[in-house]
Order: sequence, then structure tokens, then C-alpha cells
Amino acid sequence: MRKKIALIGSGQIGGTMALLAMQKELGDVILFDIMEGTPQGKALDIYQTAPITSSSVSLKGTNSYADIAGASVCIVTAGIARKPGMSRDDLISTNTKVIKQVAEGIKTHAPDAFVIVITNPLDAMVYVMHRLTGFPRNRVMGMAGILDSARFRTFISMETGVSVADISAFVLGGHGDSMVPLPRYSTVGGIPLPEYPGLSKERIDAMVARTRSGGGEIVELLKTGSAFYAPGAAAISMAEAILRDQKRVFPCAVLCEGEYGHRGLFMGVPVLLGAGGVEKIIEVGLTPEEKAALDVSAGHVRELIEAVNRSGEI
Ligand code: APR
Repeated sequence: MRKKIALIGSGQIGGTMALLAMQKELGDVILFDIMEGTPQGKALDIYQTAPITSSSVSLKGTNSYADIAGASVCIVTAGIARKPGMSRDDLISTNTKVIKQVAEGIKTHAPDAFVIVITNPLDAMVYVMHRLTGFPRNRVMGMAGILDSARFRTFISMETGVSVADISAFVLGGHGDSMVPLPRYSTVGGIPLPEYPGLSKERIDAMVARTRSGGGEIVELLKTGSAFYAPGAAAISMAEAILRDQKRVFPCAVLCEGEYGHRGLFMGVPVLLGAGGVEKIIEVGLTPEEKAALDVSAGHVRELIEAVNRSGEI
């Protein structure tokens, strides 16, 4: 029997993920939204790509949570997206209310699912999801680090002219302006970035800064919404790692319980993703400067969580 993958939110990212999940034949896809007609219309359109791309899975659009029953993975984008001038944090009260509804729907209808949250502000929304579902920490995670490191990899490729296939990048911390891209653990053909011939510290610093504001750069250009192709691709790679037990090492927002010196908050750290969801958190040594930057980022995540708790929504 095919696995089932439920996409909660059928907006820009939800639609992108439905197309990718279908093309990769990850399983039968359920596309859910509260807007009547949107998931049904998108699902029909995307389903009609299947004969062209020879995909054998099915796709259904729905406004009913009952349809997510039996889903192995739920990916959540429900909520509002950023407009120019808004930070991710500006979305907090609206999206907390949305995640509350979604958590209830998942808990009731797909109690055994792995949950991947994309809705911003990410580190706070994945905290809300974890608290309200009560699922164990290996089953609730946020998508941010893969996207942030993909942005860093893209900028490194643009700068060096080397294929992204030979570039790896490492980003820790919250999914905000205080995220911590780590050049020392980012490599071009296995060579740490600071050692790569012809790459000055200034150029590396500029790429780090552009990575930190990578989402905002796209919001300013689009004017009507935020990035969706790369966020969708990133979340689908997490779902694939779980559904196909790939044992990938990805930076994901997971609940730290003492790892990297932090407890009780979700932030981006490298994890091993496989059939057990977050099977392991991988801890690496940090210099005092790197640790200080991570602590600043963690402090920002903690402020977001306090804002959620103060909002009285949960
Ligand atoms: N339940 C289900 N779906 C909802 C709810 C809800 N309570 N509230 C809103 N939605 C749906 C909207 O109807 C819309 O179709 O969520 C969808 C969001 O889609 P977009 O506005 O296109 O946003 P998108 O670009 O997909 O981003 C979604 O991910 O990266 C983050 O900041 C981004 O928080 C945003 C989220």
C-alpha cells in the first residue's frame, strides 16, 4: 500500500510541494486548506500533470481534516505569509491561532504522523505544534535550515563558479536575521570556505549577510508574498528522507533538550533524518564566537516563544 502525505495549506508552498511530491511519487497526496475550492482546483490541475510526467500516485484536494487520516507525514504551511516591510515575527498572533487549529486536526485524524512545520515565525510555530499535539520530539520538526543552507550554497556557487553539487553549507540557530551560517563547516569540494583559494573574508561575510536576509530579499522583489519554490523543495526533501528511510543529515528546527547548551526551545541543528523521524541530533564543536552567535539566535527564539505564551492563544 502506498504511503500518504498530507499538505496542510494549499497556497504557494503547498501547491509547489504537491507537484514535487507527485513527481517523486512519495505517496498519495492530500492537499488541505480552509479556502473552499483552492485545494480542489490545485489538486485537479496538478493531478493532470501525472499523465504527462508518468506519475502513478493520486492527489486529492479537500477542506476536511478527515481526509488526512492515515497520513505518515503532514507538512504544514497554513497561515499568512510575509508582505514587504513585515518581519517573520510580525506573523505571530495570526499564525499561532492557525497552528492551534491545525494541531487539533492532526492530533485527531493523523495521530501517528511525522509533522514538518514551515509556517513562520518558524521556530515559534513548531514549538506551538509540538506543545499542542503532545507528539514526541522525534516527530515534530521545522523546515528552515535546509532552505537557509541552500541559499548559502547558491551564493557560494555564484561567487566561486563551482557547481552547487560540490558545495555544502552549514547553518545553525533560529530561522531569522540572527541565524548562524558557519563558513568553517561549509565547504567547496571538501575545502572549508575560509581556505578556498581567492575567497576573501569580505566576500564570505557578504555571502553570510545575504544568506541571513535571503528570504527578505525575495519578499521585497515579489511584493505580494514570500519565497515558495525553494521552501517547498526543502520540506519535500525532509519528507522523502523520512518516507524512504534515507538517513540524511539535514539542519532542521528540533527541540533541544540540552544539546548545544539549550533546553526547551526549537532551533536549527544538524540531525539525522530517517524512518524514525529525528533519529539523532548531531553536536559539533563551536568556537567561542560561533557559540556566542548561536546563543544570540537562541535568545531571539526564546523571545518569540515568550510572545506566543503572552498572546494567551495557547
Ligand atoms: N487552516 C488551513 N489553512 C489555512 C488556514 C487555516 N486555519 N489559514 C490560512 N490557511 C491557508 C490559506 O488559505 C492559504 O492557502 O494557508 C495558505 C497559505 O498560503 P500562502 O498565503 O500562499 O503562503 P505560502 O507562501 O504558501 O507560505 C505559507 O510558510 O514560509 C511560510 O511565511 C510563510 O507562514 C507562511 C507559510
